[in-house]
Amino acid sequence: MTRLAEGLPGSPASILGIGAYRGSQVVPNADLVEAIDSSDEWIQQRSGIRERRFATPEETVQLMSVRACQEALDNAGIDARQVDAVIVATISHLMQLPAVAPAVATELGCDQPVAFDVSAACAGFCHGVTLAADMIRGGSATYALVVGVERLTDMLDLEDRGTAFIFADGAGAVVIGPTETSGIGPVVWGSDGEHFDYIRQREDWPDVLAAEQPGGHFITMQGSAVFRWASFSMAKVGLEALDRSGISVDDLDCFVPHQANMRITDAMARAMKLPASVKIARDVAEQGNTSAASVPLALHRMVADGDAVSGDLALLIAFGAGLAYAAQVVVIP
Ligand code: UT7
Repeated sequence: MTRLAEGLPGSPASILGIGAYRGSQVVPNADLVEAIDSSDEWIQQRSGIRERRFATPEETVQLMSVRACQEALDNAGIDARQVDAVIVATISHLMQLPAVAPAVATELGCDQPVAFDVSAACAGFCHGVTLAADMIRGGSATYALVVGVERLTDMLDLEDRGTAFIFADGAGAVVIGPTETSGIGPVVWGSDGEHFDYIRQREDWPDVLAAEQPGGHFITMQGSAVFRWASFSMAKVGLEALDRSGISVDDLDCFVPHQANMRITDAMARAMKLPASVKIARDVAEQGNTSAASVPLALHRMVADGDAVSGDLALLIAFGAGLAYAAQVVVIP
């Protein structure tokens, strides 16, 4: 375990508590394979996914967000009325207007905080963490809630072999607040709009609305192209995030990458030459890929399982549609 007496670089803000809510239906591979002419063995070999969590109709984006945020608040010992910023990272709140964040904030009992949604797909939670930390450092917020939440089953074609077995539902949240030393390192983030089409909604909204057949809003993905991009480019981003925090792989305790595919996680860990002592999040096996929720859900499981303990240094890295990515080192609360 590594503890930095001086904290990470940057003015002080840290994660104070973590919460999670997983869709309550456990769906094994066997339940999906017939419709996509696949097999449990193929899915496990190619993605590492054994089962995933799907939401029930009652488990809305708002409900899952509120539950995850409440647990994060309880773990942080912070009252909802102290929260003055609520950031919801999501691409599956299927209402263009308004954002879901103000409704989440009100249901939690916050007192008129700034509240807005962030659309950066799988990278959205890591974007939100950076925004919240910078707001606290800049004096425009004191305590912020950041939640990554998705109900991707609303956008999933269960007959599409390229996506049906991958995506799932859930929410993960953190409370971020002022601390004596910094527990959130400098971000490395960016985007590559050249490949805007690699993961996208099948059709633009006007075409979806004009179509006779439903389903234009389903997710479509060029899986192999995304796989290659993530496996080859993201290790560099992760190493840069360590460098910007002034640490090396030998100082790291935990690696919490976006839970897209176990083979991508392993390729990144190899490319970064992570020592065997670094604990690696493998939540995808039982949760599937929950886009913006995947990093905080994986973080939550690591803490719950005792694989990450207070004071540990964890590298978060998330990447996906856009193509958008973000990585930062954080101290486990
Ligand atoms: O969260 C956002 C970021 N997303 C990601 O990072 C996802 C990145 N991509 C992936 O995880 C992988 O590309 C997949 C798991 C989606 C697919 O794995 P792959 O190893 O890239 O498979 P592939 O698309 O290259 O297909 C390999 C073979 C093909 O057959 P042939 O041409 O080799 O005979 C496909 O037809 O597997 C076949 N195949 C399937 N077989 C059984 C494709 N999908 C399936 C399937 N079941 N569902």
